[in-house]
Amino acid sequence: MSAALLELRDLRVRYGPVEAVRGIHLEVREGELIALLGANGAGKTSVLNAISGLCAQASGKVLWQGIDMLGRPAESIFAAGLVQVPEGRGIFLSLSVRDNLMLALDARGPSGADGKRAFDEVLAVFPRVAERLAQRAGELSGGELQMVALARALLCRPRLLMLDEPSMGLAPILVQQTFELLARIHAEGTSLLLVEQNARQALAIADRAYVLETGNLTLSGPATVLAQDPRVVSAYLGG
Ligand SMILES: Nc1ncnc2c1ncn2[C@@H]1O[C@H](COP(=O)(O)OP(=O)(O)O)[C@@H](O)[C@H]1O
Ligand SMILES: [Mg+2]
Repeated sequence: MSAALLELRDLRVRYGPVEAVRGIHLEVREGELIALLGANGAGKTSVLNAISGLCAQASGKVLWQGIDMLGRPAESIFAAGLVQVPEGRGIFLSLSVRDNLMLALDARGPSGADGKRAFDEVLAVFPRVAERLAQRAGELSGGELQMVALARALLCRPRLLMLDEPSMGLAPILVQQTFELLARIHAEGTSLLLVEQNARQALAIADRAYVLETGNLTLSGPATVLAQDPRVVSAYLGG
């Protein structure tokens, strides 16, 4: 078994008196797609934000290839290759699609001819985005914005791509397409940490999964095993 790329040890997040994440242990190994499942309010976004350096009151360890990143500025965590697609996607709506993508390339991407090649490669994966480069991002539909957010994250050459509920607010056909795309990104070798309420679809593409309930991890294991677990079926799969 390979060493962990990311390992959370006793991670806690609080907001004043509220402890939103209560001492969790989680691992992502190189090349894995890990799903973090849980209901609204379980603490999923807090976990991602703590990894990305966006939670002021987090404690424990966020080990990235064995080095503790907790307490480092968000820019240096991003620079190390931990790239988060936030809930709500964080696209600059007043900028063009092209400018949104160029910002990512400038922030953490290859430059010069390599940058141009990376740009073309990513656009080949997202033909709908390629058609809309000149358009203001604010004019795009929810599904198209999701694609821009994913394209932007991929341009940053993530070592670990973290997604916060990418299927939220999308029409069923686009949900399907999003999960297919994530499966493809995974198949091409990218490590992913996928936060989802859509447990069925997430388990269908994940290697392993963790279930978060009010800040505690209550279940974990191979995705195929969890998909059959009566506790998961009754609570998250509508069984
Ligand atoms: N900035 C914040 N200030 C205070 N409480 C927060 C803040 N962000 C989240 N919380 C609380 O922390 C808990 C976990 O929230 P969150 O991590 O967003 O869960 P999830 O992403 O699973 O829906 C919730 O009870 C939420 O109300
Ligand atoms: Mg959330």
